[in-house]
Amino acid sequence: MTESTSPISICFVCLGNICRSPTAEGIFLHILREKNKSHLFRVDSAGTGAWHIGKPADERARKVAKERGIELPSIARQVQPEDLNRFDYILAMDQKNRANLMEMATSEEQKNRIHLFRDFDPAAPENSEVPDPFHGGEDHFQDVFDMCSAAANGLMAHALERASR
Ligand code: 4NP
Repeated sequence: MTESTSPISICFVCLGNICRSPTAEGIFLHILREKNKSHLFRVDSAGTGAWHIGKPADERARKVAKERGIELPSIARQVQPEDLNRFDYILAMDQKNRANLMEMATSEEQKNRIHLFRDFDPAAPENSEVPDPFHGGEDHFQDVFDMCSAAANGLMAHALERASR
């Protein structure tokens, strides 16, 4: 991929945009910096729900990430129909998020951009979800972090391979 090629655009999507998708976004941004690949990507996150618009990531998600040296810069926003044109990869955290995104899609091209995030983790069974941790304890947030890490590495490999073709 040449420096002038447009960046690969990625949007992580969950329900509230305060727990799972900000975690995925922060991890992905961190790996990009480690690999010196930030200039090749545009990364964002959004929620299918509107309750938390304008809020930073949940403090439990931020604590778990910070313990692993990762900041979560996200400010919550709601996913918009136009996002389905603006991003190459739209990564749903669970089946409900994916179904909501699919309902929003108006073309096959848009539908083809929507994936379950954990389908990029080669060790996860097909159709695995990142479960909603909002009503759970810190252990749920640890699990979310680990699932997002594994899937983020797989997604990066996939996107870089596609970009090199
Ligand atoms: P997220 O978690 O979708 O991973 O951000 C949730 C955050 C808030 C709510 C549900 C899930 N809520 O119902 O407010």
